Amino acid sequence: MKQKIQLLFFLFLTQQGIAQDKTFVIRTGEPVAAVSPTMYGVFFEDINMGADGGLYAELVKNRSFEFFKPLMGWKVEQNPYREGAVLVLNRKEQHTANPRFLRITLPGDGPRSLSLINEGFRGMGIKKDLRYDFSFMYASAAAGLTVRAELCNAKGQAIGSAVLIPPATGGVWRKQELQFTATATEEKALLKITLEGNGTIDLDMISLFPGDTWRGRKGGLRADMVQMLADMKPGFIRFPGGCIVEGYDLSQRYQWKKTIEPVEERQLLINRWNFEFAHRPAPDYFQTFGLGFFEYFQLAEDIGAAPLPILNCGMACQFNAAEVVPLDQLDPYIQDALDLIEFANGPTTSKWGKIRADMGHPQPFGLSMMGVGNENWGPQYLERLQLFQKAIKAKYPDFRIVASSGTDPDGKRFEQLDTALRALHIDFIDEHYYRPPQWFFSNVNRYDHYPRTGTKVFAGEYAAHPEGVAPEKKNNWLAALSIAAFLTGVERNAAVVEMASYAPLFAHTAGWQWSPDLIWVSNLKAAGTPDYYVQQLYALNKGTKVLPLTLNDKVVAGQDSLYASAVLDEPAKELVIKMVNALPREQSIRLELRGTKRRTALAKLIRLQHTDLDAMNSMEAPRTVFPQESGIRLSGKQPPVTLAPYSFTILRIPYS
Ligand code: AHR
Repeated sequence: MKQKIQLLFFLFLTQQGIAQDKTFVIRTGEPVAAVSPTMYGVFFEDINMGADGGLYAELVKNRSFEFFKPLMGWKVEQNPYREGAVLVLNRKEQHTANPRFLRITLPGDGPRSLSLINEGFRGMGIKKDLRYDFSFMYASAAAGLTVRAELCNAKGQAIGSAVLIPPATGGVWRKQELQFTATATEEKALLKITLEGNGTIDLDMISLFPGDTWRGRKGGLRADMVQMLADMKPGFIRFPGGCIVEGYDLSQRYQWKKTIEPVEERQLLINRWNFEFAHRPAPDYFQTFGLGFFEYFQLAEDIGAAPLPILNCGMACQFNAAEVVPLDQLDPYIQDALDLIEFANGPTTSKWGKIRADMGHPQPFGLSMMGVGNENWGPQYLERLQLFQKAIKAKYPDFRIVASSGTDPDGKRFEQLDTALRALHIDFIDEHYYRPPQWFFSNVNRYDHYPRTGTKVFAGEYAAHPEGVAPEKKNNWLAALSIAAFLTGVERNAAVVEMASYAPLFAHTAGWQWSPDLIWVSNLKAAGTPDYYVQQLYALNKGTKVLPLTLNDKVVAGQDSLYASAVLDEPAKELVIKMVNALPREQSIRLELRGTKRRTALAKLIRLQHTDLDAMNSMEAPRTVFPQESGIRLSGKQPPVTLAPYSFTILRIPYS
């Protein structure tokens, strides 16, 4: 209610001085800036079960028993019960990255069975007729135990199973793999592993992946989630965050080199979103790094996005421990940055380039930019950043560096950093704004007066957070409409803003910490929010050159609650006009194209619209707010176009 009153008041203000003649004039022959190919990307972080329990398709939670509580996510059932049948052992001297494993002993003194039951990440999403890849690491002195893997539905009935008797390994660790097909679809299945017979077996890395991962890669990513990203045709993908880059303290910072080992040697780390919000605790949230830096680069390549990794700058989160590395001990951090460039781009004869090639990608990944620090600020940040900048530019003069402007898009901290970073000729300033919808409507002119040369802006994290609304309802149409309006200002200022990404990207309906988010997923489905469709429409219609679009010689930035921008899409030979009507009633405008001729009277109209600002998409109704395409005939010199109430409209007009 509060948000609606605020909006109505805001709309009342913006209607003062309504122009009579609402003709949008587009000067097609006078492009003002080129649109960066990196525009409209995605920001990925393992928050809200974005990676573990989300994009990373592993279905077993705590597969290597490294959570603080080694059996978290697991239940042990024995028949009959025997004390000491399951032991948690630790071989940290030999295996520092993955020290714990289970030792299971069945004495063979009568019929016995022991089951390990994994609950998955809020259950396991299982699909009928799909193949599942079950695997585990084990060591045993002698064969004697039968292992049965079974998927169980909510009633405990088996919906797929496989059995094997693992051969003895002479005490050496080996991997066993088997496959089976699910006989039913289940949103919250469990995995039950039953051991029967006589003997002792050590178990670790118990894993289950669906057979339909993205591009069929074993141990890969959830295909439906990657598809949502691919459908956006993002200009870049930023990874791995976000705050997880910084860590609560430096021991918990993200270290990319620890994410490129074989998966069983990637050292697990607590996810900072495990405990960040007292009201949304997630005690079972850890990072396995199954989705590590190699996989991030591969993902970027798959979806045609420029990779944009962000590295720790030698500072932990300034809201948490705020630890800093002394300047004379910063070298290993800087070396990590230099090595990452070599890992991504270096020849296969180089140390890190060879590691990339050995992982299956001899071709370079084409890394051209990197963030140093996330939401860091103050002189301590600038001192550290400069050391990174000096070392990176000395070795790779054209490599572009993205620097933080702190947590807010204004205020003293922001202004000091902005000034200092421009003086350092840093390539990109990463701006973050999580603000109410009204902020986005009112800040559509934000970039109009930014310098056109020198440092560029990366609008790295933004989202409209409606006020007075339950977290689950924040992804409403009002929020998305306000961003659609704001982005007309971003588009107009392509000479200033070269990259933009909404944040956060993914959220699991049963495991989120932060809302709103761009894409919501359950164990079996993924649904785009209205915000997703706004981002997607901008990305798919970004064009190549920005054109001046005016109403009575002024940019269209809120007059009569209208917002608009225009670009040329040169390869398609189309003029693309984006218009937002934030009034609850239709508005009619006229279009006047100066400088070019329409090829045909027919144009394409794409409309995202809802009359209810509270409208949302959901798993059950994912297309409540969804783009609709139609044809429109534009007749006359100033063809009229009707903009629906509360709508975001794109016109694609073929030109000659
Ligand atoms: O997007 C969620 C968080 O918001 C990011 O981790 C952080 O950079 C920002 O504060």
